[in-house]
Amino acid sequence: MDKPINEEIAARRTFAIISHPDAGKTTITEKLLYFGGAIRDAGTVKGKKSGKYATSDWMEIEKQRGISVTSSVMQFDYDGKRVNILDTPGHEDFSEDTYRTLMAVDAAVMMIDSAKGIEPQTLKLFKVCSMRGIPIFTFINKMDRQGKEPLELMAELEEVLGIQSYAMNYPIGMGKEFIGLYDRFNNRIEQVRVEEDKRFLKLNDEGELAEPHPMTVTSYYQQAVEDVLLLNEAGNEFDEERIAKGELTPVFFGSALTNFGVQTFLETFLQFSPPPQPRITKDETVINPYSEEFSGFIFKIQANMNPAHRDRIAFVRIVSGEFERGMTVRVPRISKTFKLTQTTQFLADDRETVDEAVAGDIIGLYDTGNYQIGDTVIGGKSNFQFDALPVFTPELFVRVTAKNVMKSKHFHKGILQLVQEGAIQYYRTLHTEEVILGAVGQLQFEVFEHRMKNEYNVEVRMEHIGSKVARWIENEEDVKEAMAGQRAMLVKDRHDNLVFLFENEFAMRWFHDKYPEIQLYSLL
Ligand code: G4P
Repeated sequence: MDKPINEEIAARRTFAIISHPDAGKTTITEKLLYFGGAIRDAGTVKGKKSGKYATSDWMEIEKQRGISVTSSVMQFDYDGKRVNILDTPGHEDFSEDTYRTLMAVDAAVMMIDSAKGIEPQTLKLFKVCSMRGIPIFTFINKMDRQGKEPLELMAELEEVLGIQSYAMNYPIGMGKEFIGLYDRFNNRIEQVRVEEDKRFLKLNDEGELAEPHPMTVTSYYQQAVEDVLLLNEAGNEFDEERIAKGELTPVFFGSALTNFGVQTFLETFLQFSPPPQPRITKDETVINPYSEEFSGFIFKIQANMNPAHRDRIAFVRIVSGEFERGMTVRVPRISKTFKLTQTTQFLADDRETVDEAVAGDIIGLYDTGNYQIGDTVIGGKSNFQFDALPVFTPELFVRVTAKNVMKSKHFHKGILQLVQEGAIQYYRTLHTEEVILGAVGQLQFEVFEHRMKNEYNVEVRMEHIGSKVARWIENEEDVKEAMAGQRAMLVKDRHDNLVFLFENEFAMRWFHDKYPEIQLYSLL
C-alpha cells in the first residue's frame, strides 16, 4: 500500500447509487468509471436493445477492459480518493440484497429522472438509507430532455421524501435549450458543448455573469438567475453537518448521457461524502475504522448459479483495520476460525490489487456454507458481534410445496437453510402449517426454486398469492383468529410472531377501522 494505513482508510469513499430503473444509474456509473480511469471510453459500453443492463453486463465491461469492475463492487481512484461503488440491483434483480447492500455503504447517490420525479423504487431505497441516517446526494438526470420544472423537483424531494434540499447547481434551460449549469457552489457557470478551457464562466458577487456574454439575454439564463435568487433568499442553507446526518441533500442537476455536470458532481461529492464510518456492536461498543484489529460484517451472500460449482461468495464490508491475504479470522457466531488463503477469492480480475484491503473496502470470501448474512468476522482476539442487519418487509408471497411429497424432509431442510442464509423469508399458516415464502423481489423466488432443485434435489411448486401488505402485531394477545379472513391472512413468521398479510392497503385500512385496538407495524 502506498500510504500509511490511516491515510488509506481516510481516502476511502464507499457508496451506492439508488434509483428507479431507467433513471440512468448504469449510464452515470459508466461515466464515473471513465473519470476514474477504470474504463477508457465512456461511450463504448452499449446497453442491450431492451435498454436493460443485467448485472452480468458489468462482467462484460470487465472482460472488455480487464479492470476491477464486477457485478457487485466497482473500484477506482480519483483525486487521491479510493472510490468503491456498490451495485444495488434494480429491475428484475431487485431483492433484499439490494436493501442489505445499503447497510454496507457510508453514503448514497440518488438518481432521479427529471421527467418522472420520485418513482416507487427510489422512495423505497431512500427510506432504507434515511433510516440509517447516511448522507444522500441527489443527481437529477436527463436535463437534456424536457422534464419537470427544477423548483418543482426540489419541492418533490421535500414533500415526497421529507428531506430538505440544497441546489448545488441549477439548470439553465432544459431539453434542446439546455445551455448550462449555474454552479452555485463553485460560483461559476458551466456551459454545455463548449471546449474545456472556455466552458466555465465566472459569476460576480451579485450572482450574475462577471463578463458580458450572449447568454445573458436568453430567458433561460434570466430565469435561472431569478430562481437561484429565490433559493438564496427562501431556500435552505448549505450546511455540511446536516448533509453528514442525512438531513439535507445536496442536489446536482445534469445529464449522464451527454456527460454534462458529472465530473463536477463527482468532485463535489468526493469532497463532502464521508470516509469510512464507525459501526456499533450488539453491546453498543463503537468500532472505529482506524482501530488496528481487522473486523467486518457479511452483508450479502451470492450463490453461484452454476450447478457445477456449489460455492458462494460472502461479501464483507471491512469496518476496521486492514485485511491481508492469508490472515486468520474468527466468526463469533459459530466460534470458528478460518484462514483466508486459498479460500479467499476476490472479485477483481487483477488479483494483485486486492491482496490487501482496509476499512471501507469490500472483499469477497469464498464460502462453502460456513457464513451467514449478518456474520461478524474478526482478525484479532476481541469478541463482539456487529448489530444485526435489519429484516425488510416483503411484498411478494408464494405458497410453496414439494412436487414429490416423499421429498418432504429435504424440502424442509432446504427451506430452513435458505431462510437462515437470508435468501428468502419464511411464514406458515396457523393450523394447516402451509409454507408461505415472502420476498422483496421476484428474483428471490427464482433463486430459491433453482437452489432447491440443484442443492437439495427438490422440485418445488410455487403458487403466487400475489403482493400483500405484511404487518406485525404489537399486542398479539388481543388478536383473535376470527379477525383473519379472505382479505387478511394470519400467519406466523420464523420466530413464531403473528403476522397479518393484507390483500392491499385498503384491506389494511378497513381492518384498522374495524379493530382499532390491534396495533400493527411494519419492518423496514
Ligand atoms: P438504469 O441503469 O438506471 O436502469 O438506467 P440506464 O443508465 O440504463 O438508462 C436508461 C435509459 O436512459 C437509457 O436509454 C439511457 O441511455 C437513458 N439515459 C441515461 N441518462 C440519460 C440522460 O442524461 N439523458 C437522456 N436523454 N437519456 C439518458 P435506453 O434507450 O433505454 O437504452 P440505450 O439502448 O440507449 O442504452
